Amino acid sequence: MLIDDTTTMPEQHTLTPTGVTLRWDNVQLEVDIPATDENGTMKKRILKGITGTASPGELLVIMGPLGAGKSILLDCLANHNTNYSGNVTINGQSWTDEMSKLSAYVLQDDLFYTTLTVKEHLQFQAELRMGKGCTSKERETRMVKVIANLGLVKCQDTMIGMEMPEEFLVENVNA
Ligand SMILES: Nc1ncnc2c1ncn2[C@@H]1O[C@H](COP(=O)(O)OP(=O)(O)OP(=O)(O)O)[C@@H](O)[C@H]1O
Ligand SMILES: [Mg+2]
Repeated sequence: MLIDDTTTMPEQHTLTPTGVTLRWDNVQLEVDIPATDENGTMKKRILKGITGTASPGELLVIMGPLGAGKSILLDCLANHNTNYSGNVTINGQSWTDEMSKLSAYVLQDDLFYTTLTVKEHLQFQAELRMGKGCTSKERETRMVKVIANLGLVKCQDTMIGMEMPEEFLVENVNA
């Protein structure tokens, strides 16, 4: 989850230069699933009292086995899924629609074109997201800043690429 702390927030939620703290307390989520032995639905609890914090300047990794609920938790934290109970706050304040516009939750498989370089990808994203309201110079400036902030200067002209299937690598080594 990337939170852009360079953008001005609504007055009561102004972010400080020290960044933002995302906190989630006792997040629970239930979904309706078909009942097994009769018509109708029953509840399945997917998230059970999840609590945590993402602090400025820290990399947070959420790990767990298949189906543990990692993606659904991220959906809740990014406000894509609002059916949860519990609290998600940013610098101690509840999320607002404005705040949602300042965060991004990127699904790697869906959003990255493997044949683009890092810079080309960000150029493409800038065109799509910043739109005609900005000049090409403003888009370029923003892109350069994002590349620098994310420490991607060295690899900006490197193709994003993809993981090679293991069989392919072994065949090539043997050839
Ligand atoms: N709408 C739904 N109805 C019923 N069960 C659901 C629904 N959405 C998710 N689940 C279940 O919730 C659990 C958590 O799913 P989630 O996709 O968050 O897991 P994950 O940890 O991201 O798994 P993976 O490592 O495969 O990406 C899974 O068991 C999934 O089958
Ligand atoms: Mg997942």
